[in-house]
Amino acid sequence: MLLEIKGLCKEYKRREKTFSVVDNVDLSIGQGDFVSVIGRSGSGKSTLLNMIAGLLEPTSGNIKLDDRDIYTLKDRKKSEIRNSRLGYIPQGFGVLYNLTVFDNVRLPFYLSKRQGDAAGRASFLLDEVGLSPLAEMMPSQLSGGELRRVLIARALMNEPEILIADEPTSDLDIETTKIIMDLFARINQNGTTILIVTHELDTLEFGNRVLTMESGRLTEHAQSNAAEKPYI
Ligand SMILES: Nc1ncnc2c1ncn2[C@@H]1O[C@H](COP(=O)(O)OP(=O)(O)OP(=O)(O)O)[C@@H](O)[C@H]1O
Ligand SMILES: [Mg+2]
Repeated sequence: MLLEIKGLCKEYKRREKTFSVVDNVDLSIGQGDFVSVIGRSGSGKSTLLNMIAGLLEPTSGNIKLDDRDIYTLKDRKKSEIRNSRLGYIPQGFGVLYNLTVFDNVRLPFYLSKRQGDAAGRASFLLDEVGLSPLAEMMPSQLSGGELRRVLIARALMNEPEILIADEPTSDLDIETTKIIMDLFARINQNGTTILIVTHELDTLEFGNRVLTMESGRLTEHAQSNAAEKPYI
């Protein structure tokens, strides 16, 4: 199994009371899976993704990538894996405001010290997400949906084995959403494993598995049921 999550919990304290944001989650993801997670606001979806992306230490439980528990690795090794094997599209904005769009996209390439045509790949990805004309602009000059697409291109820069995306199309119109979801479907067909949190039920058709998060608990159900269970 590519990703094996067992008994994963995240607890926070609020006014002296401990509460579970992610509650005993088990999840196995195989190579080539396209997994969609839905659920109400505040149900723990981003917390779960942040832990899987190696950015937030669980209170208990473990996450194994190729049989190796990622939270037992040293920070340097963990960042190395994050840079080279995972692509992460965060829910908030994570662009660097002092770099151009183009430099934001190609940054992961240099962070992982890869060899090759970074500029060529960055241009290709900017074209894929429809941002070629904006390559030399600064992020402060972009709209919310354009910024989101910069993050999508950046997450794909190092050809990740696993793409983790937290509501990647939430700022996008229907047409641009389709362009991005088609891009995800294509890279999934080429072998990239995808884990996506989504609010748009019509994006569920792109995946092969649908899970619902409810008060920190994750349940899997047949895809056909998901569309019948709108929650928004
Ligand atoms: N650092 C923190 N300290 C305390 N509580 C937190 C922290 N981070 C998140 N929470 C709480 O945990 C719960 C789950 O948050 P999370 O961001 O995972 O929800 P979500 O399902 O992604 O919601 P949304 O759909 O709105 O993005 C929320 O009630 C939130 O307030
Ligand atoms: Mg969230």
